[in-house]
Amino acid sequence: MLKEDILYELETHRDIPISGQELADRFSVSRNAVWKVMKSLKEEGYSIISTRNKGYVLEGSSDVLSKEGILAALDGEVPGLEVYLFQEVDSTNNEAKRMLASGFAGNALLVAESQTMGRGRRGKSFYSPAGTGLYMSLILQTEELKGPLSMLTIVTACGVLRALQNEAGIDIKVKWVNDLFVGNKKAGGILSEAITDLESGKTEAVVIGIGINVTEAAFPEELKEVATVLHTDIPRNCLIASIVKELYKSNWTDPVAELPFYRANSLVLGQKVWYDEEEVLAEAIDESGGLVICHGDGRREGIRGGNIRLIRNQ
Ligand code: BTN
Repeated sequence: MLKEDILYELETHRDIPISGQELADRFSVSRNAVWKVMKSLKEEGYSIISTRNKGYVLEGSSDVLSKEGILAALDGEVPGLEVYLFQEVDSTNNEAKRMLASGFAGNALLVAESQTMGRGRRGKSFYSPAGTGLYMSLILQTEELKGPLSMLTIVTACGVLRALQNEAGIDIKVKWVNDLFVGNKKAGGILSEAITDLESGKTEAVVIGIGINVTEAAFPEELKEVATVLHTDIPRNCLIASIVKELYKSNWTDPVAELPFYRANSLVLGQKVWYDEEEVLAEAIDESGGLVICHGDGRREGIRGGNIRLIRNQ
């Protein structure tokens, strides 16, 4: 507990020194016990500077994922949210679904340092190495959402975009319906899943999975041309907390109200794109979040799924 308590203190006072004596007094332990905790945190990769006069300081750029770091950055704004951190998991969405299947009935945030089977839409995998990305799933109970669940991904995308644009100044856009783009390359995506009770047919909870490439990763060959990262030095704990806070403020009850923002941040609206093997115009996003495309012969079609690809030399 002492280690967690000290880490929480350091995380709430990033870049501000705290003296060993102050920490020792606060937690009723010896200065030597504080020193031992600092030594162990440094060994785990935390950038902690110790100076004789001022004490200990966690550098603003220190980027070790931790539950305490996320809670400190949430700053009490999201009461009742349970936070879980995994060093490695198959998929945070899978883990969230296992939690729900075993009776979990609250709201929770699951974060992983790495995923061995990160999943995207349409059965695709999501590359999830350690140290460079953000892989998180939010479990939300549906009675708190109230709005139509069909627009979950759109509302989520708006929240993620707002958090990254406002907190980190990142020029990030959305490629209908769930892909997050920086420039003309994919930096992340959203995978939202509904958990339905088979007997009542009622959706009891949703799992909102968000994956983002944050800092330079050694992408495998097939991703090198199409994937990118956020290029930010804001620690992942802080990015995660900003996204969660933004999602908690989101307009779930009236998702249509989010559409102007979603359209304004769309990468494809008004552009020629590939739909299956055909070049079409992405003409509009309708009031239910569907994409209206215009075929070469002038025929209009509203699509709800399927894959839109950028025409890269546009
Ligand atoms: C996509 O690219 O189609 C969506 C990618 C979503 C990836 C995130 S990472 C956290 C969560 N766990 C998963 O297995 N997938 C989502």
